[in-house]
Amino acid sequence: MGHTIERIKAIQLQERIIDAELAASWIQDGMTLGLSGFTRAGDAKAVPLALIKRAETESFKVNVFTGASLGSDIDRLFAEAGIVGKRLPFQADPVMRKKINEGDMLFVDHHLSQTAEWIKAGVIEPIDFAIIEALGITEDGLIIPTTSVGNSALFVQYAKNVIVEINTAQPALFEGIHDIYDTGRQGERLPIPLTRVDDRIGVPGIPVDLEKVRGIVFTHQPDSPSTIAAADEETEQMAEHLLNFLRSEVRAGRLTERLAPLQSGIGTVANAVLQGLLDSEFDDLEVYSEVLQDAVFELIDAGKVRFASSSSITLSEEKMKQVYGNFEKYRDKLILRPQEISNHPEIIRRLGLISINTALEFDIYGNVNSTHVSGTKMMNGIGGSGDFARNARLSIFVTKSIAKGGRISSVVPFATHIDHTEHDVDIVVTEQGYADLRGLAPRERAPRIIENCVHPMYKEKMRDYYMEALARGGQTPHVLEQAFSWHAKLAQTGTML
Ligand code: COA
Repeated sequence: MGHTIERIKAIQLQERIIDAELAASWIQDGMTLGLSGFTRAGDAKAVPLALIKRAETESFKVNVFTGASLGSDIDRLFAEAGIVGKRLPFQADPVMRKKINEGDMLFVDHHLSQTAEWIKAGVIEPIDFAIIEALGITEDGLIIPTTSVGNSALFVQYAKNVIVEINTAQPALFEGIHDIYDTGRQGERLPIPLTRVDDRIGVPGIPVDLEKVRGIVFTHQPDSPSTIAAADEETEQMAEHLLNFLRSEVRAGRLTERLAPLQSGIGTVANAVLQGLLDSEFDDLEVYSEVLQDAVFELIDAGKVRFASSSSITLSEEKMKQVYGNFEKYRDKLILRPQEISNHPEIIRRLGLISINTALEFDIYGNVNSTHVSGTKMMNGIGGSGDFARNARLSIFVTKSIAKGGRISSVVPFATHIDHTEHDVDIVVTEQGYADLRGLAPRERAPRIIENCVHPMYKEKMRDYYMEALARGGQTPHVLEQAFSWHAKLAQTGTML
């Protein structure tokens, strides 16, 4: 182990170093695990992988609760091994997605800020083992997380047992960028004392009752890089529309060129849209988000972003090398917080965020589906998008107007699953244009969405639907028997056209 033992400064824990196989052997059928990890960052790696190995010769199931999606193929391997009873609150793996949709495992798709409340109140299964990746443990018993915080502090506090994975491949310079704050229990709380993006309100690590630490495993395995694709013509057009909208807000005196703290969701589209700010006049920006993708670091490098607060950092392979290889340059511009804080409604509303998330589809009244393909098949999950959308100053949803080469229109008569209701959605953007829905009644929204956002291939069809709906009347007119006819046609013929 050599010098690595120095990572455990709480001397009494130094004798608890074990290997991952032993740790995994303590986990029993039916237990609930609280794993560190948020959007492929900072996931516990060795013990989950050892547990998956055990499944080759044993049959058991565990519940897996995390911050968000895991990297290192762990969600895929968990799904393939068939050892997950219930997964919560987010995943983004194609194999796990398939198993969920086939009914082979259960998935609870939950607002990322709210899992904390369920755990504190004892609503969901108690955590038997918290398995937390760390840089090290301080003398006074603080577990220093790595590239994400997620729900780790909560898991450590509420779990019966804690296993720490000290990962020596993670950048040691991350020590000091975490800010762990406990909101306490509902009904006994004070306001969260965070009024600026860069405020520090907690302690630099996760306090742990040393008695609960059953074992410490050493690992040396970097995070999995993100898989986002590069910007393309459509995402550039979407970025341009978004910038034009923001410019109109500046002209109206509602924003300045410093905008307001930005939140941007996961995935290719959100990253590409944020990149659009690089060549804009907007400057001295702040980010208050749950995940920082490549674009935020490009904006920091360009001197556009002054400070970024988040719960995790998820980068492409190339960006990871550049950022983690020069981390001293970024350290004083970053804070990583528990997801309960990065996504807290109180703070989102107080700071007045500009929130940009991605829709799979939205309808002519502005209801957004971010999760369920054709209303039934889980994609990834709602993640933090609901935390932000309902509480932001500006709740913006972006999506390309068509998918699968035009066989799918992402603007539909009626969204087949609604994650964000029309009441939570201010602006929708496609490569065709944007629709500002604020202050508009449903009968004003529909024509604006149809004319500004629908792809030309589907525009006439949508106008026809709306005219027929209008003839039926209502506050929110629909032709109910046809509302899902586009999806039904897609299922039957392979295209909505
Ligand atoms: N119907 C069916 N499939 C659709 C679709 C639609 N209306 N619109 C897009 N898709 C498909 C795309 O074709 C693509 O499929 P592929 O993976 O087979 O290529 C896939 O959905 C992803 O779309 P893409 O355009 O590449 O977008 P993305 O990587 O930005 O992901 C979401 C988009 C919605 C899946 C993703 O942002 C998400 O999971 N969001 C919910 C969670 C969230 O918003 N969190 C925010 C806080 S982090």
